[in-house]
Amino acid sequence: MTMTMNKTLPILDVKNVSKSFTLHNIDGRTVTALEDASFVVHPGEHVSLAGSSGAGKSTLLRLIYRTYSITAGSVSFRLANDEWVDIAQLSDAEVIALRGREIGYVSQFLHAQPRRSVIDLVARAGVSRGMSTADAHEQAGYSLARLGISRTLWDVHTSVLSGGEKQRVNIAAGLISPPRLLLLDEPVSALDPENRERAIEVIADLSDQGVAVLAVFHDLDAISRLASRIILMSRGSVVTDGPVDQVLPQLTPGDVQP
Ligand SMILES: Nc1ncnc2c1ncn2[C@@H]1O[C@H](COP(=O)(O)OP(=O)(O)O)[C@@H](O)[C@H]1O
Ligand SMILES: [Mg+2]
Repeated sequence: MTMTMNKTLPILDVKNVSKSFTLHNIDGRTVTALEDASFVVHPGEHVSLAGSSGAGKSTLLRLIYRTYSITAGSVSFRLANDEWVDIAQLSDAEVIALRGREIGYVSQFLHAQPRRSVIDLVARAGVSRGMSTADAHEQAGYSLARLGISRTLWDVHTSVLSGGEKQRVNIAAGLISPPRLLLLDEPVSALDPENRERAIEVIADLSDQGVAVLAVFHDLDAISRLASRIILMSRGSVVTDGPVDQVLPQLTPGDVQP
């Protein structure tokens, strides 16, 4: 009963968020990347962020993950114990504790770790989210296989992988024992059609597991297949927020630029 009720509560409540950057090497000029953006995300929802290049999509994801500090507004997140925290106000130590089990972030780039094998990198991500080493290795192998990374690559160092292989390893690490909120910034941008298909299937499964996903994809096909809702941004502001069947027909190719 309580579980069902909690499903209807948002997991993320972004309110009146603004972000400006001061460009110290250009006369201290200020760039406004986000202006008064507000929206909520519920568990199990897959929300696509659309908008032309420079609209503020990546900045928004980085603010939520707290790679960037916030200029104004609040980023309320509901913890597993139903307590709310404002990510914008957390200490750095609290942010680190929140990452991993609660919030994950997958960008288009793998932070290659030269001395770490592919399977170790993915398994370690699972261990950091509370899995046992044995379970994490088993799950890592399963995820890599699903993403089309053949067994012959599991023991090589991540630095020798191709761009597309790195990206798939990155997805496997980001999605093993998935956090409650997952932020994706163009995670399939370097993949060939077959592997992109595999990645999209893995990402689609997240919604069935109740994971809340906030994602940027630069193609309408991925958005139409994955999203339950679309937030269209322009110049740092939310201009449209609605169900995929209503917003998708309004999008132009220019709205899904990296
Ligand atoms: N670290 C930064 N320093 C200065 N300006 C930034 C920084 N990150 C983003 N911006 C600026 O913020 C705006 C939004 O960028 P971004 O969030 O990357 O857009 P999108 O992901 O929608 O293409 C752009 O004008 C960009 O130049
Ligand atoms: Mg971007």
